[in-house]
Amino acid sequence: MRRKVLAGNWKMYKTRGEAHAFLEAFVPLISPGAENREVILCGPFTCLDVLNAQAGPYAVGAQNVHWADHGAYTGEIAPQMLVELGVRYVIVGHSERREYFNETDSTVNRRLNNAQDHDLLPILCVGETESVRKDGMTEAHIRSQLDRDLELVDLRRLIIAYEPIWAIGTGKTCEANEANRVCAMIRKHVNFEGVPILYGGSVKPENIDELMAQSDIDGVLVGGASLEAKSFARIVNFES
Ligand code: G3H
Repeated sequence: MRRKVLAGNWKMYKTRGEAHAFLEAFVPLISPGAENREVILCGPFTCLDVLNAQAGPYAVGAQNVHWADHGAYTGEIAPQMLVELGVRYVIVGHSERREYFNETDSTVNRRLNNAQDHDLLPILCVGETESVRKDGMTEAHIRSQLDRDLELVDLRRLIIAYEPIWAIGTGKTCEANEANRVCAMIRKHVNFEGVPILYGGSVKPENIDELMAQSDIDGVLVGGASLEAKSFARIVNFES
């Protein structure tokens, strides 16, 4: 059976003090039954040590990592700097990085490889825009992202998140059966049964149970609803 992964992506939200307050409220809300679920909190760089100190059994993730180990790359962060703070996971290729910071499949691929070289577990994000979906090109677009992003990447040390861009932060969740269909297509395309595949895009307490009941959705990557302790706890405590 594949493992269940519940990841929160805080994006550019929360100061260190806010992260501390979140954890104080969140940790006691997790039911004992959620012990075998992999819970990951991906905070801004400045909160990572706070998360590591206070998150107990929950793992810490970053939201980006550079492809080089050091150098004149103002504003970037190297993998060993994250490892030193207790980080185990890193999101790579989020659509917001691709859209606002000119991330390409080539840079995503280099970041993935360097993360793995330092034993970080990357969470690769792929997904289509609304216009790609309207043109009937969803599958082709995602297959192309996977082919380029995953060159030389070890599939045994990877998580993939399917995030339709039109569903991110919009309140428009992809129907659970459609999200499941695309996740199944991704699994088939990478040809590795064991890779955890997450769905992301307006996941909330109201839709988590239905999403997690799908055969090919192994977890979720949650933005907005991971910012509030009660709502993220309900997501982690999903009913199976
Ligand atoms: O990384 C998370 C995704 O971008 C989803 O964000 O849950 O706010 O739609 P959202």
